[in-house]
Amino acid sequence: MFNFHLYTLSLHLVQCSAHSKCLNAITTSRNAMLEEGTGWGGSGCPRGKGVQGRRTEASQGFSDHQAPPSYEFYFFAPLLLLRPLPPLHLLLFLVCPLSPSLPSFLCPLSSQGKMLRCKFQRLEIALLLAMGLGALLFLLQVDQRELIHHIPPGEKLGSLPDSSPPTVLSPPPAPCHANTSVVNASGFAELPIHIKNFLLYKHCRSFQPLRDAPGKCGGPGASDEVFLLLAIKSSPANYERRELIRKTWGQERTIHGLSIRRLFLVGTAANVLEARKLNRLLAMEALQYGDILQWDFHDSFFNLTLKQVLFLEWQVAHCPEAHFLFNGDDDVFAHTDNMVVYLQGLLPDKHLFVGHLISHVGPIRLKYSKYYVPRLVSPENLYPPYCGGGGMLMSRFTVRAIRRASLSIEFFPIDDVYLGMCLQREGLQPASHMGIRTGGVQVPSTQLGSFDPCYYRELLLVHRFVPYEMLLMWQALHEPGLVCGKRTLKYQRV
Ligand SMILES: *[C@@H]1O[C@H](CO)[C@@H](O)[C@H](O)[C@H]1NC(C)=O
Ligand SMILES: *[C@@H]1O[C@H](CO)[C@@H](O)[C@H](O)[C@H]1NC(C)=O
Ligand SMILES: *[C@@H]1O[C@H](CO)[C@@H](O)[C@H](O)[C@H]1NC(C)=O
Repeated sequence: MFNFHLYTLSLHLVQCSAHSKCLNAITTSRNAMLEEGTGWGGSGCPRGKGVQGRRTEASQGFSDHQAPPSYEFYFFAPLLLLRPLPPLHLLLFLVCPLSPSLPSFLCPLSSQGKMLRCKFQRLEIALLLAMGLGALLFLLQVDQRELIHHIPPGEKLGSLPDSSPPTVLSPPPAPCHANTSVVNASGFAELPIHIKNFLLYKHCRSFQPLRDAPGKCGGPGASDEVFLLLAIKSSPANYERRELIRKTWGQERTIHGLSIRRLFLVGTAANVLEARKLNRLLAMEALQYGDILQWDFHDSFFNLTLKQVLFLEWQVAHCPEAHFLFNGDDDVFAHTDNMVVYLQGLLPDKHLFVGHLISHVGPIRLKYSKYYVPRLVSPENLYPPYCGGGGMLMSRFTVRAIRRASLSIEFFPIDDVYLGMCLQREGLQPASHMGIRTGGVQVPSTQLGSFDPCYYRELLLVHRFVPYEMLLMWQALHEPGLVCGKRTLKYQRV
């Protein structure tokens, strides 16, 4: 709560510095100083009778309910000691009072406050220096302490709200070492760094779970009760997307008596400091929602296959009987109501793998493409047919087949292609579902806007939604009065 207040207050400060009245006041007073020839870059305080008068003028620039920011500044200064602020903030906080020649947009408060504070300049500098040094020491100390109390990997912070039995944690897997013999392969040295990393670590398949959700499906025995399990790949920092998905299409609920469960699959940020922060966030989310599966590997594009396979391992252990699996990204809009209606008529123990079918394509050999796959990674020139990774549906029969195949297929950096490879190994075919548009939507007529709920209500999934659009679309689709002419629902089975 305290932190919240502090942040509100700092926001207020920032607002003031961007507020035109504040800025006007600062500019007015600075111009006034320049006219008098004292200058802000000058060594001393302005002298003479002018100061008093100007000061009043400048202060009048503020609206009545706002005290001059210099006072706020002093009010907040002690608070700053209590909470580490971003380094830039801290730096300006320290430097501004000492160097009046900094531009006023950097130090609006100190330049404004200067006239008010000239009288006590020395005392002020001494005080600020002391406070600043104190703050620095404090921050350094906090960092040390945090490092010592750093949550050991594997500690279960994400205990579930539902009463799942505590799992016995297996000892952490031995750290996986880079395969240094690939370094000698011809052409390795010229590869982009993420491909080098992929080649060095692609044999690593065992990673410590950081947050688990073993009770998600009520335990392996009871998981038959779960009709549709949503496994959504998310990056640690995509908090807003996860929140919106929880509120909209990812709601855990029961439709026509069939239950939907939700999980986010996350790795860890590559940067150590970021990772520490984001792991806390994920621990909070896990505690609140129990929907986070997190492993201790770098969450990067070329590690998505690893994420996929780790999830399949998890599902075999904790949710083997769930009838269907939705496997997708966190930037799609999945019409889960329609999915349930579509899946209702299908058998979980028959092969099902539908999505946006892609076939007759091969690796991109352009070095600067996000999807660049050099010959060293795959000499093949053609991928097996696969479904675009934005979102796809599969039955538990197919999930098991893919998992089985994955045990003997080397990792391939692009996760949706990898699933296609697993299907091929098992002699199964991916199929197309016209309601799944991972390539975006071609609106059938110019009469319909591309955001028309009447169009979306017939689809199962559309790619590339920003969070607020998800919310709007979800609201619109569930509007009781949604009138869409006499178009029929394609996936409705009665
Ligand atoms: C790589 O090649 C160098 C020189 O050819 C050799 O000395 C080294 O042992 C090789 N490294 C590995 C890991 O094979
Ligand atoms: C390491 O790389 C070499 C050369 O690419 C490969 O032959 C070997 O199987 C790899 N080792 C592991 C453990 O993956
Ligand atoms: C995948 O994660 C592992 C473990 O964190 C890391 O060593 C490796 O560099 C990552 N690979 C890529 C391609 O980012």
